[in-house]
This record gives sequence, structure tokens and C-alpha cells, in this order.
Amino acid sequence: MRNNLFWGQAVKGRLAKPGVNPADIAASFVPRLKQELAGGALPFISLPFKAALERELPETMQKFGRGFKHLLLLGIGGSALGARALQKAFMPQQDWPAHTGPWLWIADNVDAACLNAWLDRLPAQETLVVVISKSGGTIETMAQYFLARTWLHKHLAAEWAKHVLLITDKTSGALREEAAAKNLASLPVPEQLGGRYSVLSAVGLVPAYFCGMDWKALLEGAADLSLPLADHPGNLAGHPAWRLALWAKSLMDADYSQLIFFSYIPAWACFGSWFCQLWSESLGKNGKGSMPLPAVGVTDQHSLLQMFLDGPKDKGCLFLECPDLPKGEKFGADSANPLPDKWAYLKGQHFGDLLTAEAIGTLGAMAARDIPLVRMGMGKTDERAAGSMIALLELATLFTGWQLDINPLDQPAVEYGKRLANARLGAPGYAEEKEALARYFAQPDEPQAF
Ligand code: PA5
Repeated sequence: MRNNLFWGQAVKGRLAKPGVNPADIAASFVPRLKQELAGGALPFISLPFKAALERELPETMQKFGRGFKHLLLLGIGGSALGARALQKAFMPQQDWPAHTGPWLWIADNVDAACLNAWLDRLPAQETLVVVISKSGGTIETMAQYFLARTWLHKHLAAEWAKHVLLITDKTSGALREEAAAKNLASLPVPEQLGGRYSVLSAVGLVPAYFCGMDWKALLEGAADLSLPLADHPGNLAGHPAWRLALWAKSLMDADYSQLIFFSYIPAWACFGSWFCQLWSESLGKNGKGSMPLPAVGVTDQHSLLQMFLDGPKDKGCLFLECPDLPKGEKFGADSANPLPDKWAYLKGQHFGDLLTAEAIGTLGAMAARDIPLVRMGMGKTDERAAGSMIALLELATLFTGWQLDINPLDQPAVEYGKRLANARLGAPGYAEEKEALARYFAQPDEPQAF
């Protein structure tokens, strides 16, 4: 079964400016696509690293042997969100009773209580620490690494280095220097592959491998979607990622400032956070972009849906669904426990029919409120299908950014916040940032008690 995009109601009359043919818009971007592909700037489309990764990843992981029950992942942003989405989608067992491993722990915050608790309880002998940072200079990740390194030393003495894998730029950055200086195992983040576009490199696939997922199928799914375009960039106009981008841009043109990512595949809820980072960090530039909102069905029907339906008319929706989810138990099958009369209509239906019915209910309610919506119908929820969806959303984000005339591959505003934090911690340099902080603190507060 194939994955499909279904167009529900578009922004009426706004899919393209009057007199402008969508195919002409695509044609105007084809030269850029060709040029950036040729220059290696879009490795998440052309996947030039795929063959090497398929060889090196298992080789590297096999060297660590089978003794590891725990993987402690240190990373943040694009170095962590994809791994968590995969973990929740394809190793939900970790959250179920009686799980006996493997365990993946993702430390993507500077939460002293959490890191302490993990380091106090994890058995160092059975733990592989995987540090992921493309730049190798991210303070949150490096700070966690320094603490984890001390912890490993304490428990394993000279053996500590056998418990560390670094995933970072091939040649530059502090983490790469650390790998060389201490002879630590490492895998590269491919050249020109930014954090939020990197889940299908070693960044997301090492944890996927550790958890026993079909990591190769994830890559194959991405290849299914993106390689036909890499091979024939002239076909941009017909590519689903382009069509999705065209729709997203038409929403922004019509002042829809928010985009809901509504997953009716409950186990895929964390793809919402992954997508929101991809969309926000790629498109929030020069006053442009739209605010992504993650939501999961049916949980958020009892939380966010009221606002979606009856709040400001500024939201479009990307609606993720799959008709083939497990159905679960049948109601009323046990004659010793008949359903109360009020609920008798459920007899013979499955628990999973509730999800389907509620998804239809939400679709209908959104249609009644004229909320622009695209249904993303997954034929399956296996790794290959997820790989295709990941690639679809990455490409759609890129092409939306191109139409907005911004650079979807950088994140200058975030970088500024990082520099301010470094200045605050007393890192050398950062004179301008230190002055900016001084100005900020000079502003009077208006404290209120509550
Ligand atoms: O998408 C991005 O580029 C960012 O979110 C990064 O992934 C994040 O800032 C972490 O950077 P790094 O991988 O260099 O530590």
C-alpha cells in the first residue's frame, strides 16, 4: 500500500496567485535545485552518504559487542528529536510494563536532577554513551559529556573509552578533536547535513540500530521519496514534497500563521516535536514562516481541538493517519461482562474503531469550520513508510523556505541565543554579547508577588 497526500479543502482561491501557474513556479526553482544538488548542499535529498553509512554503522556497532543494555544519548535539537521520534514509534516497549531492554535514554536538556538520576542508576558496565553533535561545540551536549566522561572513568577506569561513541563532523569541532586525542570510536555526520535534516544519518540510525529497528528500511524509505527527484530535478512540479510546500506557502500568503501537525497515529506523536523543530528552525526567518503546533489524536481532542475549531481562523492542518493500525480487542465479546445498555452499540466493534471514528469526526469538524487541511495517509506504519514521511517533510520544508525567499538550512537567531548564553557563562570573547546582556540587566524589573 502506498503513502498518499490527500488534499482536503485548500485555502479557497489562494493555491496560487491569479494568473500564476503552479508549474511555472516549480520551473523557476529547478535550476536552483540542480545547482544545490550538484554542489552537495542537499545531502538529505541525494543521500551521498548512504552506502558508506550502511557499511560503517554496523561495523562500528559490532565492535562494541553485545554487552550493552543501555544507550545514553547526549545531544540536543536535531541531534536528539529524531531519535526520540523513532524510539517512541518503533520501540514503544520501553514504556510498557515488563520491558527487559534494550533501553535508550535521551538526555537533551540540561536537567541536573534527571542526569544525576540516570547516572546514579545506570550500570556503567552495560552502558554505551553516544554523544551527538554536528558542530561538536554545543555547550549543552559538551557539558553532559564532561559529566558522563567523569562518571565512566569513576566506574570503569581505563576501560571508559570503550563505552563512548562520538557522532560529529568528520574533520572539525571539539568533539572530533576529542575523538582523535582519546582514540574514541566515532561516526561522521555527513558534510552539509544540518542537525534537523540528519535523523536518517548516524545521528538517528545509531540509536535505531541499538534498539533493533529496521534502520536500513528507514533509509530505503527516504530513498524511495527523494532519489527520484535527485535523479530528475526537472520533475519538481509533480513531486509530492513540492506540492505540499506549495500548499503551505499558499496558507502563509493567506495569513494562516499556524500549522497543526495532527497525528492520528498515536505511536508517531513524537514526530510532531521533530517536525516542529524542522519547520520552526528552518522557516522562522525575517518575519516569515508559520508556527507549527504538534497535536495527537485522540488525546488533544480533549485539549487543543476547541481552539483549533473555534479560535482564531489562522490555522492550517497536516493530518497524519493510517487505516491499518492494530484494531485491538472487540467490545462485548465476553458474555459474563455485557456492555451497559447505553454503550451496547459498541458490541462487535473493536477498540481501534474508536480511533478511526474519532479521526473522521475531527476531519469532519475541521471541514465544517473551513480549516485548510491536507491528509497524509500512511499505507503502513513500518520503518520504510516512516523514512518516506521524514524525507517528504524535510523536502517540503526546504521548498517552502525557497518560496519564502529565506535560507531554510541555517538558524542565525538561535545561534545568537547560544552566544549570549556563552557570554553569561564567562566564555572568552563574546564582547558584544556581554554588552547586550549588561543592557538587558540594566532594564528595571517590575516584580509582582503571586
Ligand atoms: O537543526 C539544527 O541545526 C540544530 O537544532 C542542532 O541540531 C542543534 O543546535 C544541536 O547542534 P549540534 O548537533 O551541532 O550539537
